[in-house]
Amino acid sequence: MSGKGNKSMWGGRFSDKPDEFMVEFGASLDVDIELLDVDIQGSIAWVAALEQAGILNDEEVKILTAGLEDLSETLKIELEEGTFIFDHSLEDVHMTVESRLIDHIGDVGAKLHTGRSRNDQVATDERLYLLGAIDSIKAYIRKLQQAIVNQAEQHIDDIVPAYTHLQQAQPVRLGHYLMAWFHMLQRDIERLKDTRKRTDKMPLGSGAVAGSGFAIDRKLLAQKLGFSDITENSIDATSDRDYIIETISASSILMMHLSRMCEDLIIWSSAEFGFAELSERYSTGSSMMPQKKNPDSLELVRGKTGRVYGNLMAILTVMKGLPFSYGKDMQEDKEPLFDTLKTVTGCLRVMTGVIEEIVFKTERMEAVFDDSVFATDIADFLTKKGIPFRKSHEIAGKLVKWSKEHGKPLKHIPTEVLKKHSELLNEHMVNIFDFKKSTDRRSLAGGTGKASLQEQIEHAKKILLQGGDV
Ligand code: ARG
Repeated sequence: MSGKGNKSMWGGRFSDKPDEFMVEFGASLDVDIELLDVDIQGSIAWVAALEQAGILNDEEVKILTAGLEDLSETLKIELEEGTFIFDHSLEDVHMTVESRLIDHIGDVGAKLHTGRSRNDQVATDERLYLLGAIDSIKAYIRKLQQAIVNQAEQHIDDIVPAYTHLQQAQPVRLGHYLMAWFHMLQRDIERLKDTRKRTDKMPLGSGAVAGSGFAIDRKLLAQKLGFSDITENSIDATSDRDYIIETISASSILMMHLSRMCEDLIIWSSAEFGFAELSERYSTGSSMMPQKKNPDSLELVRGKTGRVYGNLMAILTVMKGLPFSYGKDMQEDKEPLFDTLKTVTGCLRVMTGVIEEIVFKTERMEAVFDDSVFATDIADFLTKKGIPFRKSHEIAGKLVKWSKEHGKPLKHIPTEVLKKHSELLNEHMVNIFDFKKSTDRRSLAGGTGKASLQEQIEHAKKILLQGGDV
């Protein structure tokens, strides 16, 4: 491409054209075209602010505004139809819009950039874009949470082994297990909401670094653009990308959560576990082994977690060590951001489908129990009868040892053996070896008992009903 764009934007100081490859190297248009809508939105509001400050007259404002609106339509059509020309000499979306506006409406278009720099412009675009993107991700998390709550409600009375160290630990209600996922996603939403608060400040008017040379009413401009507030320091406003880092960081934690859900479900779908049957719509076969049904959806989500972590590392590294304020390095912020948003959205959509359609094999879940999971219940039983817990723990441990050595489950240990271990171990112990009763002994708030689980689910449903903003 020619250096035409560069010539027109800052040609005054230059007598030479940029190196041809440098033009390609410096261009971000292919990536930041994603900001087109917010860029034009920002420019329309900027025109109104310039009028308010007495810099543009009524006629100019009309021409500029209508021109930007037309351009928005035209560019959208070009992009849809694939006729849009990515002219790299125009570097980025901001210069492309400005240049196309001048082509469209003539010289008055050259007044658009009055008192503005691409430094405050790009920061404004990114923040505006992020406000919408965060809301959209929050809505996708809500859908996944809803799918989890629906499944949890259907499985209030089913039992699954809970694991620690991937060893059977204690019986829990399957609904309780699934609800663990709801809560971690709830915190992901809270993190995003918190990030959104800090993103919701408008940098426009900060100029290149020192603030615009024109008396713009920034509060009014912020209101027009839908920001709640304005940034308070022009150097900081053009310098930082912490809102991008926070979004990718919150997304990384979200991906870590999704990845752990995936890991559980992948294990649960194996023949060895057999706890879950993934819907065929989210599985694939093998090109060689006809019997295979692979959990590709879950493996991909788990795999894409690495990509989001990578994006976080990329942006942190770009920002580290940058002298104040703007440096062109920061142009590298967009790929990690857009890639993260796209990846997270895709993963949430897939996970929601997976959870909606997965079938839990509850009979199998009960069948695999090793009844030594009741050892804690035996210890608690003795403790309730006055034996100090450490002693009860030891007695229960000895019973487990006996049962392993004799190849007999705990519940079939003969009475005389029990009595030898403790006089208190009597016929009432039968209640111990009942999964549901075991869970209901944990009916305190946050426990796996039926009453607590029902309460937990009711609370979750209330959160979802209120649009989640609790
Ligand atoms: N494309 C640039 C970016 O994304 C816009 C800001 C350019 N500013 C400048 N002073 N060269 O960072």
